Amino acid sequence: MDRVVAIWRHPLYQSYYRKLEQLERERVFCRHQMIHLLDVARIAYIRNLEEGLGLQKELIYAAAILHDIGKSLQYEAKIPHELAGVEIAEQILSGLPEELSFTEEEKGQILTAIKGHRRLREDAKPLERLLYESDKESRMCFACPAEAQCDWSKEKKNMEIKV
Ligand SMILES: [Fe+2]
Repeated sequence: MDRVVAIWRHPLYQSYYRKLEQLERERVFCRHQMIHLLDVARIAYIRNLEEGLGLQKELIYAAAILHDIGKSLQYEAKIPHELAGVEIAEQILSGLPEELSFTEEEKGQILTAIKGHRRLREDAKPLERLLYESDKESRMCFACPAEAQCDWSKEKKNMEIKV
């Protein structure tokens, strides 16, 4: 998992992550910190194994920990976070040391998954679909005290224990 750790340690990742942590300190709705990011990664990896998708573990974890990295720009500049996230993720992935870098093909898969994680495209790629579904399944709306005030649609809200 060296490449995933390298993403976490990247200065750009750290600065956006810490910024978001500050912005969400008082938030009553879902937060987007490491608990959420690793819930998504682990759900996705379980499903990957159960469904025999054959996706590489590091690819799943990389997409999961990067998918909400643009969220602070949504709060502060109203830029949709999947779009802001793609740009930040691209810079981070391009800035990894050579021995820890992802191939162009892998980068493409990760960036496509980040971009598509809020709305499921009909022809979504395997990692894109897995990230979209795992992101929703990670949310415990059924037990959330703020569920009634949350503006997520009924389809998106997760009202059952699934994974
Ligand atoms: Fe998310």
